[in-house]
Amino acid sequence: MRAFAAVVLAAVFAAAVPGQEPAPTPQPGGSGKVDFRTDIAPILVARCVECHGPKEQKGDLRLDARIHLFPEGGEDGWSVTPAKPDDSELLRRLALPPDDDEVMPAKGEPLTKAQQDLFRRWVAEGAEWPAAGDEWIAAELAAQVLPKITFDLPELDAAGEAAIDTAVQALRQLGAVVQPVASDTKALDVNLSLLRDQVGDAQVALLAPLAPRLVWLNLSRTAVSDAGAEVLAQLGELRRLHAANTALGDAAIERLRGLGKLEYLNLYGTKVGDDGLAGLAALGKLQRLYVWQTRATAAGATALRGKLPQLQVDLGDYVEARLEAAQKEIAERTERQKPINDVCPVADKPVDPAQTIEHEGRRIGFCCAKCKAAFQKEPAKFLAKLPAK
Ligand code: HEC
Repeated sequence: MRAFAAVVLAAVFAAAVPGQEPAPTPQPGGSGKVDFRTDIAPILVARCVECHGPKEQKGDLRLDARIHLFPEGGEDGWSVTPAKPDDSELLRRLALPPDDDEVMPAKGEPLTKAQQDLFRRWVAEGAEWPAAGDEWIAAELAAQVLPKITFDLPELDAAGEAAIDTAVQALRQLGAVVQPVASDTKALDVNLSLLRDQVGDAQVALLAPLAPRLVWLNLSRTAVSDAGAEVLAQLGELRRLHAANTALGDAAIERLRGLGKLEYLNLYGTKVGDDGLAGLAALGKLQRLYVWQTRATAAGATALRGKLPQLQVDLGDYVEARLEAAQKEIAERTERQKPINDVCPVADKPVDPAQTIEHEGRRIGFCCAKCKAAFQKEPAKFLAKLPAK
């Protein structure tokens, strides 16, 4: 199953960046180094580059190309010191408590422990950032830019316009960000994600009158439920829908099948599974689907892509697969280093796991350094007290 998943993922990647080599397949069970391109770059793009990239350079830091993180002229101002995790400001920022003013990313959830560990290992292993990483990030950012923003929206009469104004007022009162997508269009962008669980199905219902104008909607981290999806199903002009980290499940996703203009759908961290994915086959314009950390599987993604060949599905498994491999390796190493005995053969006291030696191919534990020394001096004297070979 794993090998199968890996092959499918490689295929998904090949599709994700047209004209580029497929990513090296993660090696389950292998002890490979952290790979910048597959492990680190996707996190930078998803969580950092919006503030540390071509558009903005908050804190004078850019993270979208090697030369910006490691400018010429010396390590002094670098946020990452290769091979020295403890001297790397970037790692310190990632590990801060979520309510610390300096924690990065500066918005949204902190990186998971697993993602932080990847960064730490990457730095410890020398913080390699190959040219292919730059290319991948550039391609990824280019793919995020929508072609010229022109929306063919329905004409509205005065009453229709007035209904929209009223709904916009109500949403703004709630604290929602409602703005035109660009200066020369009436198309609207609504962001409710900052309000988190203050937004439930009742608040989502306020969106219904906006249907003829609403093209981008961000509901991530809100408390919208499958019932609220009834309202979403009416938003027929939507091009982009962010619903990451919500409780939406397969039943809700089923209802989205009428959103024929949807191009981008982010379901990261939702309850969607392969059944919901199958329902998306009706979305003929869908270009990009994010289903990291859901129940959706590589097989489900492949089945959907069979119906929607233009679709790029991001499952995020490459990170998980490598982590699993690393965790397995650590567990195996710990197992190998465990002494064969619980009781010190010299003093008959419980073994201290820090006091062990290798003797004739077996790891033997002692209660203290003194006993260890005594054993090393005359092993034969104590061998009878050890478990039989
Ligand atoms: C919403 C915007 C935003 C996002 C997203 C964001 N940052 Fe920042 N970052 C800032 C701001 C603003 C500063 C400057 C203020 C400060 O130093 O806290 C900063 C500063 C930093 C600094 C300190 C710069 C230096 O070297 O002195 C580092 C390192 C950093 N960010 C790393 C990251 C990383 C890594 C990510 C992604 C995991 C990230 N940031 C995501 C806004 C952001």
